[in-house]
This record gives sequence, structure tokens and C-alpha cells, in this order.
Amino acid sequence: KATQLRDYVAPAFLVDHVDLTFFLKSEATKVHSKLKIRQNSNDKQPLVLDGDELRLDSVAVDGRELSSDEYQLGEFSLIIPDFPAEGELEVVTYIDPVKNTKLEGLYLSGGNFCTQCEAEGFRRITYYPDRPDVMATYTVTVHADQTSYPILLSNGNLIDQGVSNDGSHWARWDDPFPKPSYLFALVAGDLACYEDGFKTRSGQDVTLKIFVEHGNEDKCAYAMDSLIRSMKWDEERFGLEYDLDIFNIVAVSDFNMGAMENKSLNIFNSKCILASPDTATDMEFERIEAIVAHEYFHNWTGNRVTCRDWFQLSLKEGLTVYRDQEFTADMRSAPVKRIQDVRTLRARQFPEDAGPLSHPIRPESYIEINNFYTSTVYEKGGEVIRMMAELLGRDGFRKGLDLYFNRHDNQAVTCDDFVAAMEDANGADLNHFRLWYSQAGTPEVEANWSYDEKEQSLTLTLDQITAPTPGQKLKQPLLIPFTVGLLGQNGEELPLKLQGENVENASTQRTLRFDREHQTFKFVDLNQHPVPSLNRNFSAPIKLSTKYSTEDLRFLMGHDKDAFSRWDAAQTYASRLMLKMVKSVQDGDVVEFDHQYADALALNIADKSLDPAFLAQILALPSIDYVTEQMEVADFAAVEKVRSVFKVGIAKALFEQFKELYLAGKETVAYSPDSASAGRRALCNAALGYLSVIENDPECLRLVVEQFETADNMTDRMAALSLLADIPGEEREKALVAFEKRYADNALVMDKWFAVQATSSIPNALDEVKKLLSHSAFSYKNPNKVRALIGAFSGANPARFHAEDGEGYRFLADSIIHLNGINPQVASKILAPLGSWRRMNVTHQKMMKAELQRILDTENLSNDVYEIASKSLS
Ligand code: ARG
Ligand code: ZN
Repeated sequence: KATQLRDYVAPAFLVDHVDLTFFLKSEATKVHSKLKIRQNSNDKQPLVLDGDELRLDSVAVDGRELSSDEYQLGEFSLIIPDFPAEGELEVVTYIDPVKNTKLEGLYLSGGNFCTQCEAEGFRRITYYPDRPDVMATYTVTVHADQTSYPILLSNGNLIDQGVSNDGSHWARWDDPFPKPSYLFALVAGDLACYEDGFKTRSGQDVTLKIFVEHGNEDKCAYAMDSLIRSMKWDEERFGLEYDLDIFNIVAVSDFNMGAMENKSLNIFNSKCILASPDTATDMEFERIEAIVAHEYFHNWTGNRVTCRDWFQLSLKEGLTVYRDQEFTADMRSAPVKRIQDVRTLRARQFPEDAGPLSHPIRPESYIEINNFYTSTVYEKGGEVIRMMAELLGRDGFRKGLDLYFNRHDNQAVTCDDFVAAMEDANGADLNHFRLWYSQAGTPEVEANWSYDEKEQSLTLTLDQITAPTPGQKLKQPLLIPFTVGLLGQNGEELPLKLQGENVENASTQRTLRFDREHQTFKFVDLNQHPVPSLNRNFSAPIKLSTKYSTEDLRFLMGHDKDAFSRWDAAQTYASRLMLKMVKSVQDGDVVEFDHQYADALALNIADKSLDPAFLAQILALPSIDYVTEQMEVADFAAVEKVRSVFKVGIAKALFEQFKELYLAGKETVAYSPDSASAGRRALCNAALGYLSVIENDPECLRLVVEQFETADNMTDRMAALSLLADIPGEEREKALVAFEKRYADNALVMDKWFAVQATSSIPNALDEVKKLLSHSAFSYKNPNKVRALIGAFSGANPARFHAEDGEGYRFLADSIIHLNGINPQVASKILAPLGSWRRMNVTHQKMMKAELQRILDTENLSNDVYEIASKSLS
């Protein structure tokens, strides 16, 4: 049964205050709830509360206990037909946190109690109108055994605490900010605390605490530092200050996602908090920084102003993703950050938008809302915010945001409200732009140009088309901010003057308003034939096709001032060459490597002005998935083969350069996780990656093994291990055993050990994965483990997943069927790769569809899995 955006009605009742008392027991926690409720509609209506897997004990209204004929108890609801216009509802329920393997609501992780309520988990704690447009203040009292659960936390301020006669203790928390139930949180456990503080711009002292399982105190410093930098940055960039005098973070091992922004009590997957040089890679440090910032930023974009309903999810997620991207860009290299984000968008969101699960950033219908925490809602949502910022300018965007908070503080609002604030603050008309919220699919833009020597002009023609998506046949042209530059023969930036304009000092870069199906722009006063640089910095989330010659691509790769476009030229060039090689493989011709690509890379390597982190990005070849996506019918086997020939070709051609880069990189000083050092390590490891593919070169293999054995940090150790994981033989086995032994007690590091084997290119990777399912460190109940082994295999090892015998498909379906009974959210999250059958050949299509059908035939199929599997098959 689907929920529809068009069916939205305001709540019949509102809740002004929530008073909860918990008596925590692992198998039978008692929840006593008192709600101050007030009618919100003109006519009298029954009070309908949501509930899920609750054991009801008693219901009372204004102090009088109701008899069972005064309420109706359904599987997912509690209805009180005759509730007064204003009154207090008191409900006692029991819940079983131990049995809660869905990890939604109140559950146990490592023996500690914790909660996850977004989107609809609060109803698994008590009966409540569990929708974000019902906002209330909360008082929460937590009782628990003192020895097992010395730490008791909830949202807001600690206002009282004490010890009871039975030896248990209690704490009372009060959150003065009205909030939706999805932001409720509770934690009780035996936890270590890492503490620091922050003084806000207006002088308020804030206590900052990170709670972790004992023994992890030494891995909190980076997260804490990230938090402090986020708080400062949000004040400086957006004028947003923290609003309570305490901010807590708790890291838990069992968590369905990355983290959760509960008011003043963020709960994190420990993977997104814990870091030390010996246990976390540079990429993980960067991710921790970004997620800590993301959750902190939600305090304004999400909590103070929240969503009216779940269709508006991108209101808070797209905006907060944009904010965390900007933060990382300021903390690190902005161009490299942009490149990484575009890589992710292309790898996750573009395929999603081109497949059976395509939906607009503001979806119109869902069966299970958990299925809509997607790359589209988050990452494309972030791109849509970025385009508005581009159209309105930095100051205009800030003005819009200020107005948004002025208007809507403490409200639950819509994406339209956000756009309206942007318009009103700037006197702008974003009506056409709004289409990005409702239209799904990635626009395909074709750019053509011609230079008129006599007229000294360049005519740029743009055409856009968006292919039909499920449920949306007809598409309209979008308003696309299209940033361009023109490069002269020596790579210089030429002034851009459109015909009819009379400007002095024309700028060398401008953002064109491309808002029709077909549009022409004529640039004048050009006394030489320029090479256009298009969609600079990825100004719009589109698929761009151009008629660049290979000379043009090499030229851009060597000269474009816009780092993103320079990198993208390399990606386009490499993909083009690989696709040509694929054709040769399929035609049975000899596959040859084109040396010109290596020459172009060599120029970049020789350019000492380039940031090492950027050079590492240029050296990273397009992924197997990225290349395969550009084929009519996907042929993963051929692309895998070609990509490897291509890589070996480069490695041999630039052997000396790579060796030099590697050895130079090795000379660096003591380890530090900062972004400049990380960039140097990335470059060094990229060079080692090329050296490692040169077959039968004992010298190169020795370098990899040596790095694995002597590395003083996880980045280098892991880089070497993942290279070794692709080289069958004794060294591979030795390294895997050594790593396992060294980190047997560290669950997060063991996840990396699982993932590196799951994504290995060795032919029998799947057999290895299956064996690892019975490894003592693996557990289906822990989402990180499932993602590290099963998710990594099916999502990041395409060539093995799509193996000819269909075993990859069968394995994934078996896993999903098993997980459906344990944790439906995790099960449905790993399903997507089976939905790509349309792009495969007929044999593969049949096998994939059969597995989807087998999943659909499973008894007691969850809504989560049903929705994704049925949409994938249809
Ligand atoms: N709001 C959280 C964040 O963006 C994620 C919550 C995901 N919830 C879910 N049901 N998948 O950090
Ligand atoms: Zn978020």
C-alpha cells in the first residue's frame, strides 16, 4: 500500500508536550507516556496513534483509565474515537529491545540501549502520531540499573537525577525545542566519554561529549576536532550558532546508516566516529569529518526547521549535503572535493535515475519511506541546492537562507517553502527551476559549436532531453545553469562576450541560463578558434555529450583552468579509448593500448604546480561500472579485461615516472591525517597501483609487500593490501593472514579485511566471500558486516557479481532472503544491483529476473524488500 504526496492532510491532533518515563530492561522495557494533546481540525475526529510491535498495558485520558471498548487496538494503530478537544493521554506499553534486530526504535548494541527513530521508529517505542509535522517539547526520565548502565542520556538538558530504592538510578532530560518524534533519542549504557568544549560567537559555552565503548577513547580526537571546526564554520559561513549548552555524540557498533541528527544527542555508526592512524584510512578520516559536520549542520537544517512530511526529505537532506560539501571544500581542496562528489553522483545517482527505481528528489509516492533515503534525495538534492546557490550567487543564497530561518524557525515545512524564501529574499523567479523537484531522470545535454573565422565568433548550441522514467513519460526542458569558458591556443582564458552585449572587461567564465530544449549562444570578438570548456565545476547534474576531438580532450586535460573540467576531460578520453578497445574485444580483434593517453598523463605528472591530491584523481581511471554504463548492452567481462590492458599499458609507458613519484612520496615526514599529507599519500599509492599491475616483475611486487609490512598508517597498509588482494599467490595469502591476526579484535578494521576480499578481482572471489560468511567476525545482525562482505561484493565487484554462471545473483538473492527476516532495511539496501537487468544480455536478464522473482516469492516479505524487488522486476 503506497502513501501519496497528494493525499497529505494536516494532522487532526497536535501534541504540545511529551513526558516519557522509561524503565529499561533488556527484554521488557516499560514505557510510560503522557501526552498533552490538542485538536487541530475544526470538526471532531478520532485520535489515531501509530504503533508497531508494542505490547499495550493501559490507556488513560485525563487521569481516567479507559476500558477496552473505549479504544481500538490495531496491528499498527491505537484509535481513541472519543478524545476531547484538549486533554492528556497516558499510555503504558512494553517493548522488547533484545528482539529488535531491525535496529529501528529502541534496541541494544554491544549491551547498551540506543534508539533510531527516523523515519518511523518512534512508533516502535510508544503509541504516537508519528509524523514530522507534529512537533512537541519533550521531558524524558530514564530508569536503569546503575552498574550496567551508568550513563543515561536523552535530548536537551539534564534537569534532575537520582538513585531509587531498588539500586537503579534515573536521569531526567528536558528538551525545550519543539521537535518531531523522529528526532527523539535515548541512550543508556556503560560508555567512556571524551570531552571538550566550544564557545559560540555570542559567548555561550557548550560542553561537547563523545561517548564510545570502553577502549575506544583514543579514537575520538579527530571526530571532536571535526565537530569544533563545523561549529565554527557554520557561524562564519551561515551565521548559525548552536542553541543549547550541551552537545552529545554516541557511537554504536550496530547501526543501519551512517549517523543520526537527534536533537543534541547525535547517534553514530562507530565507523563514522572512531579513527586513529593505525586503524583508519585517509578517506575514512575525511568521511568522519564530513558526517560529523553533516549531523551537526542538521541542527538548523532539519531540526530547527524540519519537514512537513517525508516527501519533503530532500528539504533537509539535500540542503545539509550541500552544506557538508561546502564545509569539506573549505577544509580541504575544493576542486578535489568536487571531483569526488561528482564521481559518487555518477556512480550511484545516475544509475539510480536511469533504472527502475528512478524518482524525483521530492518523490510522489512510497511504500516504505526507508527506501527513499537515496542518492537521488541526498546527492541530487544537494546538486539542486548548489544550482540555486549558483543562480543567486553566494550572497543571494545567504539572504534566502536567512529569510528561510526567519520565516520557518520551529516549523515543519516543504521544499516549496524553501524555494519561496530564496525567491522572496532575492526578488527572483524560480518557477521554472522548481521542475528539478518534481521531474526525475538525468537530463542529457548535447553541445555543438562552430567557429566562424570571418565573423570571429563561436556559436554554441545546446540541446537537452530527459528520457522517460517509470511513471513519468513526458519530460520538460529544465533550467540548467551551464558554466562555460573558452580556451585560446595556449590555454589562456578568453573574454566571453555574447552577441549584442556591450561590456568592457568581459569575464572569462560565465554561467549560461539554458532553459529550452534547443538554445544557441553566440560569443563574439574572438580572434582565434577556441576550445570550449563546458559545464565547468559540474555546474549542473547532467550527462554531457560533446564532439570533442581526441586532440581537444588532450588539450583540455593539459590546460583547462577549471580543475573539474580538466579531470573530466581525462575521464572522457579514457572511457572513449576503453570503449573502442571493448569493441575490438567483441569483434575478436587485437586490443591495443593508445600511447597518446599515457603521453597526456605524463604532461600532468610533469606539471609540478599540480596539487598531488588532484594528480591522484587524474591518475584514477574510470571505474568498470562507469565505462560499462556507456554501453548499449553491458559487457562487464570485456570492460574488466580492457581496463586492465589499459592500465598495464599506462604502467609500462610511464614506468619511470611512477617509480619516481612513488619513491619521492615515500620520503615524506611523520604521519599526519591532514589533507595535504593525505593528498601526497593518495598520489604515492596511485603510482604504486600502476606499478603493481606490471606482471611478473618481482621488484614491483616487492615494493607492495614492503609497504604492506612497514607502513606506519592504515592508508598505506590498506592500499598495499588491496593491491595484493588482486594478485593471486603466496604474498596475497600471507598478507591477508597477517592483517587478520593483527586486527582480530578491531571490528571496524575487520570490515575492511572483509571488503578487500569481497572486491578482489581474483576469479574465485565469490567462493572466498561465501567462506567468509562463517568467519567468527562476521554476523548477519551487524549492518557494517553485511555491507562489508555482501554489499561490497554485489555493489563494488561488478565483474564477479555478473559472472556468467549467475552464482553472483543467486548469492545476493539468498542473502537478501535471509536478511529480510533479520533487518529489512539492510536487506533492501543491497538489492539494487539486481535491478540493472535491463542493461544486460538476454541470458543474464533471465537469471537476474529469476532471482528477483524468487525474492518476491519469499514468505513474510517486508515492505522494504517488496517495494524494491517489485519495482526492479516490473
Ligand atoms: N537523517 C540521517 C542523516 O542524514 C539519516 C537517517 C536515515 N534513516 C533511514 N531510515 N534510512 O544523517
Ligand atoms: Zn542527513
